[in-house]
Amino acid sequence: MPGYEVIGQEEKEELIDVLSRNMLFRYGFDAERKGIYKVQQFEKEFADYCGVKHALAVSSGTAALKVALLALGIGPGDEVITQGFTFVATWESILETGAVPVFAEIDDTLCLDPKDIVSKITPRTKAIIPVHMCGAQARITDITAIADKHGLSVIEDTAQSCGGRLHGKALGSFGKMGTFSFDSVKTMTTGEGGMVITNDRDLYIRASEYHDHGHDHNPAVSRGLEKRNFIGFNYRMMELQGAMGLAQLRKLDSVILKKQRENKTRIKDALSMIDRITFRNIPDPYGDTATFIMFLLPTAEKAEKFNAVMAQEGAGTVYWYKNDWHYFERWEHLLEGKSAVRSAYPFKTESGETRCAYDKSSLPKTADLLSRCLSIGININMDEQIPKIIRAIEIAGKAIS
Ligand SMILES: Cc1ncc(COP(=O)(O)O)c(C=O)c1O
Repeated sequence: MPGYEVIGQEEKEELIDVLSRNMLFRYGFDAERKGIYKVQQFEKEFADYCGVKHALAVSSGTAALKVALLALGIGPGDEVITQGFTFVATWESILETGAVPVFAEIDDTLCLDPKDIVSKITPRTKAIIPVHMCGAQARITDITAIADKHGLSVIEDTAQSCGGRLHGKALGSFGKMGTFSFDSVKTMTTGEGGMVITNDRDLYIRASEYHDHGHDHNPAVSRGLEKRNFIGFNYRMMELQGAMGLAQLRKLDSVILKKQRENKTRIKDALSMIDRITFRNIPDPYGDTATFIMFLLPTAEKAEKFNAVMAQEGAGTVYWYKNDWHYFERWEHLLEGKSAVRSAYPFKTESGETRCAYDKSSLPKTADLLSRCLSIGININMDEQIPKIIRAIEIAGKAIS
């Protein structure tokens, strides 16, 4: 996830372009800014890149999820289905709206299992948030087909798969809305930042209003005279982030994804020599962003053993099963209903009744897959690291044979 690795002259020039006009705010100041609207330009180029009609830049990937949910009108009384392997932001944003996250299993793509969705649908279900985890596609066409059949909206959390495609079509563009993160460790970065994409003009307008205190963005009047259709909040992106985004987007395919794919192939070739290793199912390997290589061992014991040897050799892998931020069983604050609010909302009502509660053992398939799964993060500048990783793989392979 290495956008930060390629910050160079292009980013600096874009940033200086903003600073030289003393114009940090994305709206208004039309005379002073001399035609430069970096966030707006970034939105346009990002929408074109994804092949969609509308893109709205926001302050983070978490904000993008919340803005998308609010644009769809989701809130208290609603349920949203998502997966038990994701970053906490996916379900935090659902809880933030007052809706309740319902967790479903992942499958061999390590993303939401379409087969587990139907049993999780209730009369309260309004949306599904599949997450294109760790750089590659969920079974998104199966998921949108189920959603269509049941009248549900799909928001694709594409925070970890910016630039990914399925048979040429951009991830994030399959559902009603797609969301992205450009935080400091993402494939392309604006430091902090996010994007919402959609082909639906009404949803775009609602998202745009909500993310800017409800401003109706009426071009006929000055900003101070704009009206409101509903209450909103501030999730705006600033011009410096827009400028960064433009420079990074222009490198996404030609530098970032190209190099990641080359590096991943070298590591995958080494892993492929080991009999007992299988790989995550990637529905379209050509559209993989290659930010991670994820592989499975036959048992959890073998995975831990393999990882221990890799670590001894100075090339430890990511073992998501023991990761506190990405896996259901490790989210004790969710499982124990810990809230910053006095009443324990959103887990409890004002009068102390339970609104939502979670059982740690409710996702056995996710537990089995993740307990056997190891991941190696792929960077751009790995030329020195790769021989070491390959050597560690060979030694670890012998240790589990
Ligand atoms: C799957 C997923 N969704 C959402 C987010 C939130 O993005 P941000 O850090 O920009 O708020 C992240 C960030 O890591 C993520 O991995």
